[in-house]
Amino acid sequence: MKPIQNLFRICAVALFAVLFVGCAPKPNYSDNPEINRKVAELLSKMTLEEKIGQMNQYSGNEFTTGPQTDDTTVIKQIEKGQLGSMLNIVGAEKTRSYQEAALKSRLGIPLLFGLDVIHGFRTTFPIPLGEAASFDLAAIENGARCAAVEASAAGVHWTFAPMVDISRDARWGRVMEGAGEDPYYGALVAAARIKGFQGNDLEADNTIMACIKHFAAYGAPTAGIDYNTVDMSWGEFYNYYMPPYKAGAEAGVATFMNAFNDFNNVPCSGNTELVVDLLKGKWGFKGFVVSDWGSIGEMIPHGYAADKYDAAVKASSTSDMDMESRCYIEELANAVRDGKVKESVIDDAVARILTKKFEIGIFDDPFKYCNKEREDNLTLTAQTKNSARDMAKRSIVMLKNDNTLPLNKNIKSVAVIGALNDSKFDMKGNWAWPGDVESVVTVRKAFEDRGYKVNYAEGYSLETLKPTNVNEAIAAARNSDVVVVAIGERAMHSGEAYSKVELTISDEQQNLVAQLAKTGKPVITLVMGGRPLIFKEATENSGAVAMTWWLGSEAGNAICDVLFGDYNPSAKLPMTFPKRTGQSPICYNAKRSGRPSMLHYIDDDAKPAYAFGYGLSYSTFEIKDSKTSTQTIKGGEGVEVAFTLLNSGKVDGEEVVQVYVCDKVSSVTRPWKELKGYAKIELKAGQSSSSTIKLAPEAFGFYTNDGDFIYEKGEFDIFIGNSSDNLILVSTVTMK
Ligand code: GLC
Repeated sequence: MKPIQNLFRICAVALFAVLFVGCAPKPNYSDNPEINRKVAELLSKMTLEEKIGQMNQYSGNEFTTGPQTDDTTVIKQIEKGQLGSMLNIVGAEKTRSYQEAALKSRLGIPLLFGLDVIHGFRTTFPIPLGEAASFDLAAIENGARCAAVEASAAGVHWTFAPMVDISRDARWGRVMEGAGEDPYYGALVAAARIKGFQGNDLEADNTIMACIKHFAAYGAPTAGIDYNTVDMSWGEFYNYYMPPYKAGAEAGVATFMNAFNDFNNVPCSGNTELVVDLLKGKWGFKGFVVSDWGSIGEMIPHGYAADKYDAAVKASSTSDMDMESRCYIEELANAVRDGKVKESVIDDAVARILTKKFEIGIFDDPFKYCNKEREDNLTLTAQTKNSARDMAKRSIVMLKNDNTLPLNKNIKSVAVIGALNDSKFDMKGNWAWPGDVESVVTVRKAFEDRGYKVNYAEGYSLETLKPTNVNEAIAAARNSDVVVVAIGERAMHSGEAYSKVELTISDEQQNLVAQLAKTGKPVITLVMGGRPLIFKEATENSGAVAMTWWLGSEAGNAICDVLFGDYNPSAKLPMTFPKRTGQSPICYNAKRSGRPSMLHYIDDDAKPAYAFGYGLSYSTFEIKDSKTSTQTIKGGEGVEVAFTLLNSGKVDGEEVVQVYVCDKVSSVTRPWKELKGYAKIELKAGQSSSSTIKLAPEAFGFYTNDGDFIYEKGEFDIFIGNSSDNLILVSTVTMK
């Protein structure tokens, strides 16, 4: 082509770009202007149907995580550009086949593959509530990193994690997926998990998009019943439930997921106050929002939408992508043509979705995550298993130990009692479908692998948890040096749709512990579950009790590491354990009262069985010489708390030193105390160290009902200790 013709061609293309792309919406949801340009250019070529196709997500049903729709035409719909994403499809080869179908569509826009990578992938890590007990953000971040490496090698672009819903109600089964009851700590964990999943570069082939869920306040359902209504003051929301969501947005999370529940009378999937005003407005969130499974359509049974058309209209500005309700694909184009939904709303949602697809690089290489060789080489590696074992041992909370532990390594035989001690499936915990079961190390296996004579007796049926052959268990105990018994709930009895009206572990299981104790052998009770449980009688009959949650692939090895003292337990409870179910919801950071001495029941006091932040070590630690860097501050200033920690025990160990703040008088009622800083410190036996915990300025402010964060003059008591119920007053700081 002659130069002059070439010049004309370049000018014509440039003119087109200015005229046509110039009048298209100017999305700027990426920090990369080149991506914003590409998004605008692609958007300008799309038909309304193709745009709505990007907002449509189906499940591939490889795992069942919601009410499935039998649809034999999914591939055809993908080839027509009627889907933007699939979830629950795993594996380099399987995702490749679906991606090939997407590339046959008119514009060849690649699919996003999402999956619940909640705590590990093929290598399973402890359930998130267990990981949270570690109070070890680096270990938590690493766990998410390991999961991202394995998942991205198996074709996964996007995880529906971290779940950051604050909850104080163990009746609600999904507490297992979160970081417990504290907003300050929950916010730190949210950011750590996002960093682990997303790394520093979403385009890298070993990072995956994260998803903050469930927006919002899903962890506060009335009566602790999943999917139930949520109603609270905006002040309560801003101060207690909001911080982890906000931390996720600030950490650069790629996506959010709406919650099933209504929030202050409006279902979250259509709640413009939450999503449009707060998330996308005030917080300036640039990612996209996916609905939870079917939640757009569920606005009909909520009584908030009349039909799918109405639901599509009401969700259009709050849910950019429709997971499995099919309201968008069936009705949204009609609503736009009827003028009920502006096409600019559709353009905004699609721009957000396309931006992420460009940012993770699947336009440049749609198959970059579908690499079978990488999948084979990076899955279930020794390094990842070691990380899982390390995370697991750091998650075990020692609740009682009357010198029964650590075990003497010279014992010859161990009675391993309880079917849960031998269940590979349960060791993984819930929300671990992709987890490899075969490679799970149970408690029984770990003792056998260490060469001990294991006298195993199931004691109760794994299916029913009802007693089977107690005499066999007693005989095993009599023939052993020590007894390790597991009690609790099935792994699938915490999680979505698994609310409980009774948290007490069954009498039969607790009676089994009592029978074992009568043999006179030392009894170590392992409590296995995904939530705070109640086990008073078992505790009274045990020499030692540990909360082992569900610890994943390396559960048995981690438990033996702790029982034999190869690792000195250091975890702390991220949720209060009630003494009785009737105390739920219960938390350490409750509001005060005009009659504090009356805050009890007539049939029991209001004290928990175990407090938030509680956990024993094989060492003993003393916190000394604590003082604050100042006695007076102005709004916006922080405080440093200096202290000396002494390991006065006989073994090396770690202590989680916690600092709580009490706002003594304020224009709204405030809690007794709030965790505002902590440090996990490792010390050799007999060693002491001087440390400082920084309290950020925000430790001395709060949100008003209008969502403004304010500081008020007044006094603040600052406490330090190793549990929320074991504190000393450091000093009182005055804000001038
Ligand atoms: C489920 C859960 C949500 C999950 C989604 C996809 O119903 O509520 O947490 O990410 O569906 O599996």
